[in-house]
Amino acid sequence: MSTSPALPADTGTHEPQNTGAQRIIDLEARYLLQNYTRAPIVIHKGKGCYVYDTAGARYLDLVSGIGVMALGHAHPRILRVIKEQSALLIHCSNLYYNEHQGPLAERLAKISGLERSFFCNSGTEAMEGALKMVRAHGRRLSPEKYEILSLDNSFHGRTLGALSATGQPKYRTDFEPLLPGVRFIPPNDLATLEAAVSEKTAGILIEGIQGEGGIYRLSAEYLRKARELADRHNTLLVLDEIQCGVGRTGSYFSFQTAEAGIQPDVLTAAKPLACGLPLGVIVTNEKAASAIGPGMHGSTFGGGALACRVALEFLDILEELLPSIVEVGGYFRDRLETLARKHSFIKEVRGYGLMIGVELDIPGKNMVQQAMAQGMLINCTHDVVLRFLPPYIITKKEIDKAVKILERIFKSAKSASPPDGRGSEAEPPA
Ligand SMILES: Cc1ncc(COP(=O)(O)O)c(C=O)c1O
Repeated sequence: MSTSPALPADTGTHEPQNTGAQRIIDLEARYLLQNYTRAPIVIHKGKGCYVYDTAGARYLDLVSGIGVMALGHAHPRILRVIKEQSALLIHCSNLYYNEHQGPLAERLAKISGLERSFFCNSGTEAMEGALKMVRAHGRRLSPEKYEILSLDNSFHGRTLGALSATGQPKYRTDFEPLLPGVRFIPPNDLATLEAAVSEKTAGILIEGIQGEGGIYRLSAEYLRKARELADRHNTLLVLDEIQCGVGRTGSYFSFQTAEAGIQPDVLTAAKPLACGLPLGVIVTNEKAASAIGPGMHGSTFGGGALACRVALEFLDILEELLPSIVEVGGYFRDRLETLARKHSFIKEVRGYGLMIGVELDIPGKNMVQQAMAQGMLINCTHDVVLRFLPPYIITKKEIDKAVKILERIFKSAKSASPPDGRGSEAEPPA
């Protein structure tokens, strides 16, 4: 599927902000919590795989709202259902039925092989619900069964529960002490996993592909072992598919492409599910679902009519898009691997569908800034991993454009190298 031929013109310069934008930036500096470090552009609109800033400059968007805008910007079918549904009903609370939660839950059951859904508004809220489910499951069996196993380098969200299960001290330290009973173990280490799971373990939390952690996939063997141990000890296996799921890797969920042949008890998803409207979900089997009874959990906004209707439309479109996610993602990865062979500071290219990381042995922040100056949005995680989460509608032509920009950036990084040509350790200017 290609982007619209009628893209608005690129009328800006990709230069640091014009004065209209400066007012917005100044207001934020004065009135917002200073928790984000934003790039100095104010995005005004989007179309297909591109966004435009307030000065009219166009950017190829390979961030897509951090893996949210799966169909790019202003997709005509999404716009149509938003218009139709918002004129009918946006939300009515969970005191009543709306027409779209049930059909969406049915669709999620079909594509995941699981049975029941709970809808909420974000990834972290889905993780909170999953953690409560794990604790309630354990408590039904024994007051001692409350331990949660999670992995080093994982990311599960910013709320206290999800943060307690996030295996990266940089996010946790300021808020300690966190939830008791969470243990961290290294990913892909079968022996440690086997030793860590016991009758006290209520849940095992795994991100099938660690996204924020730098695009690292858990092995099929590891997933199988986690499944086996969860069965042996009556523990819930929870897969966090918030970044790697809902089509991102070219299958509905990443565990379905992992060749592990397993099913989780619980999966969490969010980001692309409603193409930019907030919607998170916990999808479970009957066993996990039975841990949550009437009144034990809820959400005011979760599963609103508009968000669910958009998600249903998105899943219709996604079914047709899955093969091209694999093909275009593979093409992008091949082109990046060609670049990696030319530049010794590229340590590794890791890619699964349209979830791709390029690990450098130099910091990537400067490259993100250079890309923006050349009309492309990319992201860097863990300081040294350039992360690409483009819209699923991206074409090979747009990938070629991205690679051309990256080629220029990588060349200039190389030309900053010392004469022996191994510039890897050179710290680029901030
Ligand atoms: C794997 C994973 N889990 C959970 C979250 C939290 O999701 P949200 O930011 O929607 O709360 C994220 C966000 O990046 C994520 O990547």
